[in-house]
Amino acid sequence: MAFADRYGPCAIIAGASTGLGAAFAEEAAARGLDLVLIARRGELMRSTADAIRSRHPVEIHCLEVDLARPDIVRVVGEAVSDLDVGLLVYNAAAEPQGRFLTTSTDDLLANIAVNVTTPTLLVREIGVRLAARGRGGVVLVSSTGALQGTKIFVPYGASKAYELILGEGLWDEFREHDVDAFAYVVGATATPTYLHNASKLDLTPELLESLARDSGQATNAPRSCEEVAANLFAVLDREGKGIGPRHYSHPDDEARALSDAIRPRAEVVSAMGRMTSALWR
Ligand SMILES: NC(=O)c1ccc[n+]([C@@H]2O[C@H](COP(=O)([O-])OP(=O)(O)OC[C@H]3O[C@@H](n4cnc5c(N)ncnc54)[C@H](OP(=O)(O)O)[C@@H]3O)[C@@H](O)[C@H]2O)c1
Repeated sequence: MAFADRYGPCAIIAGASTGLGAAFAEEAAARGLDLVLIARRGELMRSTADAIRSRHPVEIHCLEVDLARPDIVRVVGEAVSDLDVGLLVYNAAAEPQGRFLTTSTDDLLANIAVNVTTPTLLVREIGVRLAARGRGGVVLVSSTGALQGTKIFVPYGASKAYELILGEGLWDEFREHDVDAFAYVVGATATPTYLHNASKLDLTPELLESLARDSGQATNAPRSCEEVAANLFAVLDREGKGIGPRHYSHPDDEARALSDAIRPRAEVVSAMGRMTSALWR
């Protein structure tokens, strides 16, 4: 089956005004899929859509909405009611940073809404349609931050772990309908958000090296959005064959996950915490 027959004619990319979401949209458009982009910053999203349209002859709808809205599933459902959606990539994330005890209630609730509630309900909404078609895909974008609890990023890591396990469980259920669902575990990626955060830190190569030595964690240079997006679509290009419950954006991240899995948890969690507290003072 051709890619567009399996995952087209239309893909939803939730969280697609910029960065990784825009790169996922580009990969989907390059394979001939029409797009529904979702983000809050409408102007930025429309300029991303224009740039993609200039390179690929596809239809792009822009849905300017906050994925934290409690009625988000109705809003998205209405927006795509006339479209034959074959792929959902849930990429958006809320990322509260700082000590848990001083994180605001609003930030904690937004983290749960964007990273837990909305992906759960949206995947069910779109999953019902995909199961009825008997083909399609759902990708939950998770993080290497999901692989251990992490000081300073406590609610973020916990919510990305939820998406990781959600994607794995759905892999097993959705394959009964010939629908590919899985979690995509992303490591450090040079998205605008990552670069903005990094610009507030003095991330010299010397500092990164000393942190890696002290914490026992590799501090790899971030990958480009294009590379991380291309690696996801290389998985989808397999069109169902050899797609597993979780895929990593880079083999180095998978290797680290495997080696951490057999280390004492206290060692893994403390090492990551030493790194994040050194960076986010
Ligand atoms: N960058 C990294 O190093 C890294 C590492 C590991 C995992 N990840 C994962 O990769 C994904 C993308 O990361 P990123 O750094 O590109 O994230 P981001 O810049 O914070 O957001 C990605 C996209 O989601 C949209 N978005 C965020 N919150 C939204 C909301 N409430 N409603 C609607 N749209 C929303 C943003 O657009 P608007 O702001 O216009 O709404 C943007 O287009 C996330 O799932 C993240 O957890 C990233």
